[in-house]
Amino acid sequence: MLNQMYPLMRRFLFMLDAETTHHFTLKTIKWLHRHGLEKIYSTASSSHAIGARILTEGTGRHMALANKKKLPSPRTLMGITFPNAVGLAAGLDKDGAYIDALAVMGFGFVEVGTVTPRPQRGNALPRLFRLPQAHALINRMGFNNGGVEAFIANVRASHFAAQGGILGLNIGKNADTPVERAAEDYLYCLDRVYTHASYVVINISSPNTQHLRSLQNETALDALLTLLRERQQRLADQHQRYVPMLLKIAPDLDAMQIQVIATALLRHKMDGVIATNTTLSRENVKGMQYAEESGGLSGAPLLSTANWVVRQLRVALGNEFPIIGAGGILSAQDAISKQDAGADIVQIYTGLIYQGPKLVSDCIHALT
Ligand SMILES: Cc1cc2nc3c(=O)[nH]c(=O)nc-3n(C[C@H](O)[C@H](O)[C@H](O)COP(=O)(O)O)c2cc1C
Repeated sequence: MLNQMYPLMRRFLFMLDAETTHHFTLKTIKWLHRHGLEKIYSTASSSHAIGARILTEGTGRHMALANKKKLPSPRTLMGITFPNAVGLAAGLDKDGAYIDALAVMGFGFVEVGTVTPRPQRGNALPRLFRLPQAHALINRMGFNNGGVEAFIANVRASHFAAQGGILGLNIGKNADTPVERAAEDYLYCLDRVYTHASYVVINISSPNTQHLRSLQNETALDALLTLLRERQQRLADQHQRYVPMLLKIAPDLDAMQIQVIATALLRHKMDGVIATNTTLSRENVKGMQYAEESGGLSGAPLLSTANWVVRQLRVALGNEFPIIGAGGILSAQDAISKQDAGADIVQIYTGLIYQGPKLVSDCIHALT
């Protein structure tokens, strides 16, 4: 129902300031979900549910369904079978407080976080800006979150993962932890999220935490990945379950820097990479209102750079290395372009704000 109404609703939602809209919308979908009214905003017969059912049952009834409508094709990556190729990118649900309500939109996987060891407020308001002409956002949220203990409590309370949904948990460092001690924060979070995750993401690419992106430099990255891989292995032995770990990188890298990161990913046998986070570039939004606000730019103006990064990574990493592509998907065609660039599966965030939940089903069907 919302699919048809979204353009109208968006007009109302865009009258409020961006962060107020964010909280209002999340609270509303959670309320609808709790009261069994999720049909209002769920997309195209919930592709996740269909995908999951095919995986677990594969009955004649589904064969009949398949004949009527093209079903999403599952993708196996890092030992995980994703019911479809379209996921929710990190940052929309930083505390993992809305997992079940968001999953209803049909995502093949949901990533929540970034979470830090201790709660923190993030940057001062306002810190989220819409650039409607460009179908873009600028944010300098600064990892506002309730800390990893509250995060885990939320994750445990959700039904999505327990019912076989693929849940990515994205971890970071507190703003007041010196970057030289960043590894301690990542290890602290890894220990706590490990058993609750389908996969874990090491986010070293937010532009809104001072010096965070310096962890992408060769020496720092090498040291960080050594420690994280050791701990991952220890946790796998301890819990008798291997949870894949991916690195999330920035789009603001040149070809040499991407090569350095790719070499580190291969040397440390990381399980995958997410490309990309938001950009510091304002090249494609010059002169627009809010374009000069500091923070990371996401949405349509990011697509070509993010796809370029994916393309570089695919060449450097080879065909088998798992790449999750994010950045600038506003249409089914954009999702295809990211797949063509070399992404195995994709994630969306800003597109959801501009196009509504229909974008999820559009992309799922385009990538089927
Ligand atoms: C408001 C906002 C907050 C975000 N917060 C996070 C975050 O906490 N962790 C993270 O890894 N990425 C975060 N991102 C980046 C997104 O996950 C995604 O990589 C980026 O926005 C590009 O995708 P898009 O163009 O589809 O939005 C955030 C993005 C936005 C717009």
